[in-house]
This record gives sequence, structure tokens and C-alpha cells, in this order.
Amino acid sequence: MDVIFFGAPGAGKGTQAQILRKQYGYRQVSTGDLLREEREKATELGKAAEPYIQRGALVPDDLIVEMVKKNLPPAGSGVIFDGFPRTVAQAEALDHLLQAAGRGLPHAIYFYVPRTTLEERLLGRWTNPRTGRVYHERFNPPKRTAVDDDDGGPLIQREDDTPAIVHHRLDVFEKQTMPLIAYYNDSRSRRYLKIDASRPIGTVTAELLHALEATSSPMRTP
Ligand code: AP5
Repeated sequence: MDVIFFGAPGAGKGTQAQILRKQYGYRQVSTGDLLREEREKATELGKAAEPYIQRGALVPDDLIVEMVKKNLPPAGSGVIFDGFPRTVAQAEALDHLLQAAGRGLPHAIYFYVPRTTLEERLLGRWTNPRTGRVYHERFNPPKRTAVDDDDGGPLIQREDDTPAIVHHRLDVFEKQTMPLIAYYNDSRSRRYLKIDASRPIGTVTAELLHALEATSSPMRTP
């Protein structure tokens, strides 16, 4: 079963994908984390992506699709695509990729959170750059300030989590990624669910688990 988590920056896609990976054995493909790894290693892709990430724009579709092809896990128990696709062109490419690999069309879960909450989440986020684990200074604080509970490593604030870049990323989401709602919420596909991701982390996890267990039957928001 392949599942897409899509939603605005700060909607909690990464937080939930990490919980499902660590506690429930799902596999996570995060294009944001893959791009940060490519930048860290200073690969050609990392260098090409850097200016887009720094200004809060989307990296071009062809680079992203190629990167996902290279990192596509084999079919099997639960693959979560976290932050991919983000455009209709990426969604079409993923459908073709999965179908060519003999896999069914993916289920898509839209994380809805109001914009003011998103800004508060992103501006208070702390991240472990080595593992990608995220915290929030108010909503999900580490035991010690700026230190990861898991590995004791330093936590940083992401360079794209400044007020101006956050504002731009949210605008980009509304223009370029929101069309995915119509793409997946298509009466023929019966593979779309919208969840209220503004609720506490544990509540959202419980709803996701319930939805994922039910993916053998079609997901649909009433
Ligand atoms: P990426 O790293 O994927 O960033 P994003 O989509 O902007 O998403 P975020 O990581 O900001 O948010 P999230 O939903 O994962 O929230 P999180 O769980 O961290 O991408 C970065 C850049 O890479 C993009 O701008 C683009 O340039 C490029 N890129 C990546 N993928 C691409 C693609 N497919 N196409 C083109 N370009 C691409 O949570 C946020 C905060 O809220 C945390 O502090 C967390 O602790 C807190 N929190 C989470 N859930 C809750 C909750 N329920 N209640 C309270 N607090 C919560």
C-alpha cells in the first residue's frame, strides 16, 4: 500500500510520518529530507536545488521525479510519501511510476491546518539536521533546550523557517499544491481523505492509523 501525505508546510506531515515509521514500521520517503541530504553531500542535484529551497520555491518537477525514482522503496508494507507530490505534474508522474512497477494507485491524505497555526508551528520548529526529527518549542518540546532526546545531537532552526520565507512557502502551497485536492478527490479514484491536522499530535496519529488500517476499503471524507 502506497500513501501520500500532502498539506501545507508545517501541517505535521513529517511529524506523523516519523511516528508511523518508528512505532509502526511504515517506510517514509520525504523529498524535503532527501533534498537536504543531497545539499549536505554537495551533489549536482543538491547544488541545483539549493537556490529554490533557500527562497521557499518548489524545486523543478523533473529533478524531484528523478530523485524519487532513485529512492523508490520496493512494494510491500506501507510506504508513506511525505511532501511528494506537490504539483499535479508530480502526481501524474507518481501514478505512472507506481503503475509501471505493477503497483496500484496511491491513497492520498490531505493534512488541513489553518494558516495562522501553520506560521506558529514553523516559526517555533527545531530540527535535528542529522536525523530530520522535529520538535516544537511549545507543542512538542525536547527535554533539554536545543538538544535531541533521541541522540543528544544539536537541534537547529531551518534556514527556510524565517517569517518572510514561511510566508512565501505558504503562498506557493496555495498556488501550486492545492490543485492536488481536486486531482485526488476525484469521484472515480476513491482514494482521498482530508483530516483535521490542527488537533494534538496523538489525536492525528490515532486518526491516521485508523485510516491506514482501513485502506483495503476506499477512503473518503464525508
Ligand atoms: P520540506 O522539508 O518537505 O518542507 P515543507 O513541505 O515545507 O514541510 P515542512 O517540513 O515545513 O512541514 P511538515 O508538514 O513536515 O511539518 P512538521 O511535521 O515538521 O521541503 C523543504 C523544501 O524542499 C521546499 O520548500 C521545496 O523547496 C523543496 N521540496 C521538497 N519537496 C518538494 C517537492 N515534492 N517538489 C518540489 N520541491 C520540493 O511540523 C511542523 C512543526 O509543527 C514542528 O515543530 C512540529 O513539532 C509541530 N507540529 C506537528 N504536528 C503538530 C500538531 N498536531 N500540533 C502541534 N504542533 C505540531
